[in-house]
Amino acid sequence: MKIVISAGPTRERIDAVRFLSNRSTGKMGFAIAGAAADMGYETVLIAGPVHLDTPDGVRRIDVESAADMAAAVKCEAADADVVIMAAAVADYRPRRQISGKMKKKEGDLILELERTEDILKSLGEVKRPGQILVGFAAETENLELYALDKLKRKNLDWIAANDVSRSDIGFGSNDNAVTLYGRNSERIQLPVAPKAEIAAKLLDTVLTKA
Ligand code: CTP
Repeated sequence: MKIVISAGPTRERIDAVRFLSNRSTGKMGFAIAGAAADMGYETVLIAGPVHLDTPDGVRRIDVESAADMAAAVKCEAADADVVIMAAAVADYRPRRQISGKMKKKEGDLILELERTEDILKSLGEVKRPGQILVGFAAETENLELYALDKLKRKNLDWIAANDVSRSDIGFGSNDNAVTLYGRNSERIQLPVAPKAEIAAKLLDTVLTKA
């Protein structure tokens, strides 16, 4: 059984010294990878730029941009039994990259952004029979509605929804609380607990109820 997990943010370069990114620290994805390796599965972790040690027994591939992550994830997902996208992939990147360091000028600067590939949606379009695809939904409002929309739109088996407006869980925290929504209308609440515990329960759910 091979499990592929993505984690952390991506960085979208503006010029040689600047980038667009987000607050993801990668802790949730790394916890899932650690739990999967502890359970004895072949585990591949595709990580954006984070400051975390690789869990024992995990094969790690470091990437920077959403495009790098798309290439690595699609390559590893081809023969994976389970793919879990916990990464906070940028939805937009600068349309043009400036070589060297941009010099400031008088007046405002307008940065034009273009969409990145939705990796999870692409995986959902080529999902093999029996392959389990899991996404994350980080929301500040209408958690259930938006999570269920993503589950359906991206052809997922499970989505783990968390409320990132809460300061006690989520970004950077060692704890999390998620609700797992399954394609067969399952709704499983995992109350606040250390991310390692959430990770183990998430894996138990998606592997046993497949
Ligand atoms: N994701 C992805 N590729 C992207 C963006 C997100 O694979 N370019 C994945 C994330 O890893 C996560 C899920 O999709 O598993 C999050 O869904 P998404 O629609 O990106 O959520 P938001 O960025 O919050 O989007 P929205 O603005 O639609 O709420």
